[in-house]
Amino acid sequence: MHWEGRDAQQWQRIWNAGAVHLFESVGSTSDVIASLAEQGAPHFTVAVADEQTRGRGRGGSVWTARPGSALLFSVLFRIDKQDAVPGAAPIRIGVAVASAIEDARIKWPNDVVIPGHGKVAGILCEGTFGSHIVAGIGINVRQQQRDFPAELRGRACSVSSAHGGRDVDRAEMLGVVLQRLKEIDERLVLPLDRAELEALARLDVLRGNVVVCDVPNEKITGVATGIAEDGALLIDQEGSIRRIYNGTVRLAADAAYPGTARLL
Ligand code: BTN
Repeated sequence: MHWEGRDAQQWQRIWNAGAVHLFESVGSTSDVIASLAEQGAPHFTVAVADEQTRGRGRGGSVWTARPGSALLFSVLFRIDKQDAVPGAAPIRIGVAVASAIEDARIKWPNDVVIPGHGKVAGILCEGTFGSHIVAGIGINVRQQQRDFPAELRGRACSVSSAHGGRDVDRAEMLGVVLQRLKEIDERLVLPLDRAELEALARLDVLRGNVVVCDVPNEKITGVATGIAEDGALLIDQEGSIRRIYNGTVRLAADAAYPGTARLL
């Protein structure tokens, strides 16, 4: 199997990956990596597919993309750190992905959005605490608005559609993302440091906005004030700061805050 003109061995060398698995069509690259992890696959094993038939998103959602229109890949990170802060990993991965996409910003925990256009990439981090993380990453590269399911139109975009329909080289973009993931590899589960928190503050689309966060058995409304060193979303609720580790967050009302409309 070749992907963008090269075989798995060639990509393994170029990406400096533990191993590379390429698929024309597969259920889910994250399922592939999870099962390879059980069989002892090396650190930074990468699976890439042109199409997924059972692509998964966060919260049990389905992740679909027309064959060849997106970057669909998963990366295995083996973790041997004792002082692990697992919540830092999805944030760092989100920043790594966003840094490869022009004008992209982060919506906690790790959606990548292009303000004014919508969500351009999604990340699903799964794994076994203290053992490994499977980072599943989907980047919309070449889709047009009509390619997205009706319910996502106007809320999703591709790198190309957000930039006037320009051609985007998938291989080049994946190379940049994998390079950025290599750079954070060693400290993936360590607390976010000061420089990272400053970079995040510039990328964070929720910061300073009134948000509603659905956490189990509760709906929290307040002003998002930033992201903490352990990856928690900080929400100021009438003066008291809530730390959110799990949940879905959205802007309180796009209509009431027009400057932030169509972020998602
Ligand atoms: C989200 O809901 O935003 C996360 C979407 C993650 C999609 C990617 S595509 C590659 C990998 N394989 C999957 O089945 N899901 C992730």
